Amino acid sequence: MELRALLRSAAPVLAVLAALATGCTGATVQGRPGASGLRDPYFPRAGNGGYEVEHYALDLAYDPADGVLHGTAVITARAGQGLSSFNLDFSGLKVEGVEVQGARARYNRTGSELTVRPVRDLRKGEVFRTRVDYSGRPKPLVDPDGSKEGWITAEGGDVVAVGEPVGSMGWFPGNHHPSDKATYDITVTVPAGYEAVSNGELLSRREAGGGRTEFAWRSAEPMASYLATLAVGKFRVSTGRTASGVSVYQAVAPGEEEAARAVLARVPEVVEWESATFGPYPFGTAGSIVMPAGTLGYALETQTKPVYPGAPGEELVVHELAHQWFGNSVSPESWKDMWLNEGFATYAEWLWAESHGGVSAQRRFEAFLAGDTSVDENAGGDWAAFPPAAPPGAARISDDPVYYRGAMVLHRIRQEVGDAKFFDLLRGWAADHRYGNASTAEFTAYAQRRTGADLKKVWDVWLYGQGRPKAG
Ligand code: ARG
Ligand code: ZN
Repeated sequence: MELRALLRSAAPVLAVLAALATGCTGATVQGRPGASGLRDPYFPRAGNGGYEVEHYALDLAYDPADGVLHGTAVITARAGQGLSSFNLDFSGLKVEGVEVQGARARYNRTGSELTVRPVRDLRKGEVFRTRVDYSGRPKPLVDPDGSKEGWITAEGGDVVAVGEPVGSMGWFPGNHHPSDKATYDITVTVPAGYEAVSNGELLSRREAGGGRTEFAWRSAEPMASYLATLAVGKFRVSTGRTASGVSVYQAVAPGEEEAARAVLARVPEVVEWESATFGPYPFGTAGSIVMPAGTLGYALETQTKPVYPGAPGEELVVHELAHQWFGNSVSPESWKDMWLNEGFATYAEWLWAESHGGVSAQRRFEAFLAGDTSVDENAGGDWAAFPPAAPPGAARISDDPVYYRGAMVLHRIRQEVGDAKFFDLLRGWAADHRYGNASTAEFTAYAQRRTGADLKKVWDVWLYGQGRPKAG
């Protein structure tokens, strides 16, 4: 028999074999529902199982006059299992329709879980697109610690989106857990006269007709969804470059412009100094978003452009930009690993001070031990209340021990291994986990390997131990 004829006659058998090999029989795939949460120790419902997102394309229109957001999210994801249904995290707002692979899908909502049931099951390994059309007036969400996140409106109508830890579900549907990082295209249309500012690079800014302006922003490097931002306001925008060529885009609320001018002028210098200290800046762009004072109660290290609640001080800028390495490029595996963000960003402030005419990190460490607020106003707080690697609950992940005792953990390592090995550790950690995720256990193992030191006592006493440690 000729080969072609042989293949033709064997075709049905081959099809069945191929189907069995990929876990499906004929046209029917045997999928099961993806998990509705990733069992984060502090936010068990955050994120979803069964798939990983590769890319978010958000197409948004917002009008500050009525506060209505119209959105289309196209989410490209890869199935990690056969899926009969899967969840997205999405809170408030009205869902107008869901499509998977171009076909209308059924969906239902319970709390902040949006369950999508495609017309056919998805195969393990399949890359699929989900489109969600939605609209409504986004509202802020309240954190377990009582602070506001999500979609925050300032008094004059400007808005900003901040997502740590779970605020991003308030303005776009997604897999909202830091362990699932993806690239983003965020395109926003606003009335003429407004600026729309988001993460990454501004690809285009054009008149969209009907007295509207369209901004297209791209995050080419992976981003955890809590770091996505969008600010709409009548900002003053300035652009520039750092000495090594990173482009800088800064948007400032007019009322803050004067107070912010001097510190924002130093952003390129801070990026360069941190690059020298931590290794190459991980992203193609840097900058700032300065909201009107009083818009929100904290700053956030939103990727490439931190959000500030009014004109920031120099150390806050140092802190939020340090997060670009620690938190944004190297992201926590779970919310339990928050000290890997905050301890490092706080220690960056200590390092900046000691190399810019301020107190040494050693002096500051001693001040914390002694509760001496003349050196650092935070030294009098309850930094010893719990071990930084084990906050007692979701409401405590942004408390003092995560920041200050986290920084003290790093200083204790430095005391043990000396400056050369310590700075090599910081750079190695950022380089070897670039664009990924890491846990506390990975850090302690890495630190021992990289420095060759036995740091068990530091972990036992400072990182995991209860009670107030003494020097050493
Ligand atoms: N990660 C932010 C920073 O270090 C602080 C976020 C505070 N959020 C909160 N819910 N308390 O600058
Ligand atoms: Zn921080």
